[in-house]
Amino acid sequence: MRIDWKKITSSIYSKIKKEIESLDKKPILWVILVWKNPVSLRYIKQKERLATFCGMWFALKQLDHNIPEKKLIETIEEFNNDRNVSWYIVQLPLPKHIDTKKILRTINPNKDVDGFSPENVGKVMIWDNTGFIPCTPLWIIEIIKYLDINPEWKNITVIGKSNIVWKPIAALLMNAWATVTVCNSKTRDIRSFTSGADIVICAAGKPNLLTLDMIKMDTVVIDVWFTIVDWKILWDADFENIDIAGVQITPVPFGVWPLTVAMLMKNTLKAYKKANIGIKS
Ligand code: GUN
Repeated sequence: MRIDWKKITSSIYSKIKKEIESLDKKPILWVILVWKNPVSLRYIKQKERLATFCGMWFALKQLDHNIPEKKLIETIEEFNNDRNVSWYIVQLPLPKHIDTKKILRTINPNKDVDGFSPENVGKVMIWDNTGFIPCTPLWIIEIIKYLDINPEWKNITVIGKSNIVWKPIAALLMNAWATVTVCNSKTRDIRSFTSGADIVICAAGKPNLLTLDMIKMDTVVIDVWFTIVDWKILWDADFENIDIAGVQITPVPFGVWPLTVAMLMKNTLKAYKKANIGIKS
């Protein structure tokens, strides 16, 4: 059974749209793009389309793929110091010659609507709501809320290995009093950690890592990560069989990408309120 993410998404977008209509000036979402790979371009197009739909301005700073790291850092520092840029994101991944960690350390945490800077990541760890939470963990929380699941007392298994989904979602669910088991693609006998789970979150990028025989019949499966093999999108969960069984699962083939972008709009609005109205969280 597919989770009706469209319903959640459209209600979030109409709320954001309405709030933006009531503002004195339209927020601008700035995106810095260095590597024009097809996936990033597709993501950016969606961000532009949905930002415009919500009534925001969208602005793209495109840099050359071969830009030296030092020059990129200088550009980000200009964004940090520019009073006309209140928030922005740096589209990932970056070309190989650039140290992504160094770039994330350069982003001003108050302007970091992606929630990727060390300060914002740290705030999630210490249960501090004044920062920005990365968009994918945010939508996972929205789906759990929509399904009316109280994380307290729940067993939740998170499989992955990323700083932007796996670790923050584990921390957010711990903050919400769930009992969280954290696995990765090298965990021995993953089944022993998924078979008793009420919710399984897959963010490992390993096709068919989770199969029907590894879960209970009332498990909620949230599948976040896909891999492209021979032009085919393959997800971590064996969707065909799990969906047939009636377990609640996020849909394929394209996942819930508009929900990720909705969370970016939500963070941008939060940044607007922090910068213009002085609201802290
Ligand atoms: N690349 C893939 N997803 C994201 C995202 O949410 N933010 C940024 N900045 N880059 C990405």
